[in-house]
Amino acid sequence: MDKKDDSMEKVVALCKRRGFIFQGSEIYGGLANTWDFGPYGVELKNNIKRSWWKHFIQEREDMVGLDSSILMHPKVWEATGHVASFTDPLIDCKKCHERFRGDKLIEENMGIEAAAGKSLKEISEIIKKNKLKCPKCGSTDFTEAREFNMMFKTNQGVIENETSMVYLRPETAQGIFVNFRNISAIMRKKLPFGVGQIGKAFRNEITPGNFIFRTREFEQMEIEYFIKEEGWEKLFKEWEDLCKEWFEKLGIDKKNMRYREHDPKELAFYSKKTVDIEYKFPFGWGELMGIAYRTDYDLNRHIKFSNQDLTYFDQETNERFVPHVIEPSFGMDRTVLTVLVNAYAEDSLGGEARIFMKFDPKIAPVKAAIFPLIKKEGLPEIGRKIWNDLKSEFTVEYDESGSIGKRYRRQDEIGTPFCVTVDFDTLKDNTVTIRERDSGEQKRVKIEELKGILTEKMR
Ligand code: GLY
Repeated sequence: MDKKDDSMEKVVALCKRRGFIFQGSEIYGGLANTWDFGPYGVELKNNIKRSWWKHFIQEREDMVGLDSSILMHPKVWEATGHVASFTDPLIDCKKCHERFRGDKLIEENMGIEAAAGKSLKEISEIIKKNKLKCPKCGSTDFTEAREFNMMFKTNQGVIENETSMVYLRPETAQGIFVNFRNISAIMRKKLPFGVGQIGKAFRNEITPGNFIFRTREFEQMEIEYFIKEEGWEKLFKEWEDLCKEWFEKLGIDKKNMRYREHDPKELAFYSKKTVDIEYKFPFGWGELMGIAYRTDYDLNRHIKFSNQDLTYFDQETNERFVPHVIEPSFGMDRTVLTVLVNAYAEDSLGGEARIFMKFDPKIAPVKAAIFPLIKKEGLPEIGRKIWNDLKSEFTVEYDESGSIGKRYRRQDEIGTPFCVTVDFDTLKDNTVTIRERDSGEQKRVKIEELKGILTEKMR
């Protein structure tokens, strides 16, 4: 069942074959770097989002949710520093004209240390001095590195000019900061408290890639946890543990996860400390999420640019101050990719090779599939009745076409944890067989026990 080197290609192929993820605009030849979540992909994604919402918002007294707009006042991004600093160092290959991120080219050839915190001039010099090659054509002739702002621009309203220009948000975080005053006043929350939201963000990445790992349109799940400055280190550590715990809850293998603290030179412009949780993808270790100590940077900047009071009054100490913030920021699409890669498995069952997705039952897109053994003798009617009884509580499928073996294989690849077969014995004693995906073991159970069994397995 070991993952092989070609496991990424296998996961991508399965995603297409079984309706998890399709290429965006496929019938027009595709739009580079866009992906559409198909029927099982959207179920999986929604289950992951629900799990996140439950773990971080619903089950905590100190957290509330939010769903803020993608389009925000352009001044937001001046205040945060994104207009000035949300840039990547762009270089062009003079021979084939392909564009790259200069720091990534250095990182890929010489390691992360060599690339971290370098100025544009230093990047150009390192590339030249070490004769780094264009990954596309092998040339060593590049332009000097220059700043490239990653925010997408568009226009709001019917007149296209500078005053109608708006950005697509590059992070969901700012929707939380601009709502800080509303939420703290209306929700009567005392520090420390946090606000979480899930939503789309957009970055015009120079080099997107690795399937849904780095895309220009993506989804984030972000939390801003507002605190007093004193004691931030302890809370930061608590959030590291909480986040890792959630990934483990999703069934992600511990040994393929690690923490990586950013070198001071590598820190984003707003952060004093950042720790990433990384996952070992088939293409190498990649960031799954980051936890950043953003200090009071964002609220202070918004106070300055909006001229509004965004302070907090502590009734116990009679102090008024600007809260500091710890930000756990998760990549939604990366989490889906991690769950897919983590679940992909091959083995041999009953002497036949098979592929199956060993999703944790709680997040599996389909919880159970109901099969009548044949399409007659009243078996389909019983099967449909079982489907009807279960469908309000679980995502269940009914399938009566093809051989049982083929139906099992299809559900194994979708990652359905349980298959229920209605056969001739069902007519006699109201029992069905329930087959467990990973072991292939089958048990006979009473129809009326099915709901209880599935509920138990979903815990
Ligand atoms: N809010 C942090 C990030 O988008 O990376």
